[in-house]
Amino acid sequence: MKNTNEDKPTNVIPIWDIWIRLFHVSLVIAVGYLLISGETGFAFLDWHKPVGEFVAALVLFRILWGVFGSANARLHTLLKRPSAAFSHLKDLLKKQPHQERGHNAAGGIAVLLILLALSVQAITGMFIADEDEFVEGRFYGLLSSNNSDLLYSVHHFNGHLIQLLVFVHIVMVLVYLLWAKQNLIKPMITGSMLWRGRAEPKSVKFGSVWLGLVLALLTAAAFVWTFYLSV
Ligand code: HEM
Ligand code: HEM
Repeated sequence: MKNTNEDKPTNVIPIWDIWIRLFHVSLVIAVGYLLISGETGFAFLDWHKPVGEFVAALVLFRILWGVFGSANARLHTLLKRPSAAFSHLKDLLKKQPHQERGHNAAGGIAVLLILLALSVQAITGMFIADEDEFVEGRFYGLLSSNNSDLLYSVHHFNGHLIQLLVFVHIVMVLVYLLWAKQNLIKPMITGSMLWRGRAEPKSVKFGSVWLGLVLALLTAAAFVWTFYLSV
């Protein structure tokens, strides 16, 4: 359908591939649980370690997808100039953020920060244990106890940083929805967006579903393999 009016949604176009969406929903559930279990101890003994490792695998998969996957998932497209991010935020303040067929300049930087913080959390988790040593990371014992203590503190502080990043992330998504009337949530669930602009949307080369499956299997294999190396 052709676009005729700037304000009227006239065109439904694909934006997020299935792997990004599966990655996101898995991350929401897993990180949501980890933040609660870390803070409250809820189901900590049985689940914090395996779910934490699952998040490590998710992030590794996302990095691979960010290298070989869809054009709008590529890691280098996430890192835009800070001036572009500020100008996007200024437009948001005026309730006129440009629609993007991917992450906007500010969102891209936020996504990179979240992925970085989750990597630090998952890696430090693998080298630490709780006070009673009921839960031990797969590489716990490889480092001196001083270094392990240091990583424990990093895990503690970075846990708070992740809480903050997730909070800001959710608030921003709601700001787009309620303030700028741009629904970013639906596209992250369905994979399609309503394109309102007069200009044609940017074309996006989507990665193959099968390539995603191969990368997911490779990530899983790497985790199983390093698990056996660590026991
Ligand atoms: C990205 C994944 C992870 C997230 C988001 C996460 C989150 C958290 C949080 C928020 C805390 C509470 C920190 C505090 O306030 O002291 C915590 C504690 C902890 N986490 Fe993780 N974690 C992750 C991965 C892991 C992994 C893979 C392990 C491996 C076993 C692990 C082991 C621990 C341990 C031992 C504690 C300390 C518990 C205690 O003694 O109170 N975490 N985690
Ligand atoms: C633990 C909680 C969460 C984490 C760790 C998280 C993390 C992320 C990450 C890493 C991305 C980038 C996706 C990619 O390119 O691979 C993203 C995007 C997104 N997330 Fe979340 N998320 C969380 C919760 C939520 C919730 C609760 C919502 C809905 C209210 C949400 C809505 C979105 C949306 C709409 C996008 C796409 C933003 C855009 O269009 O640029 N997220 N999230």
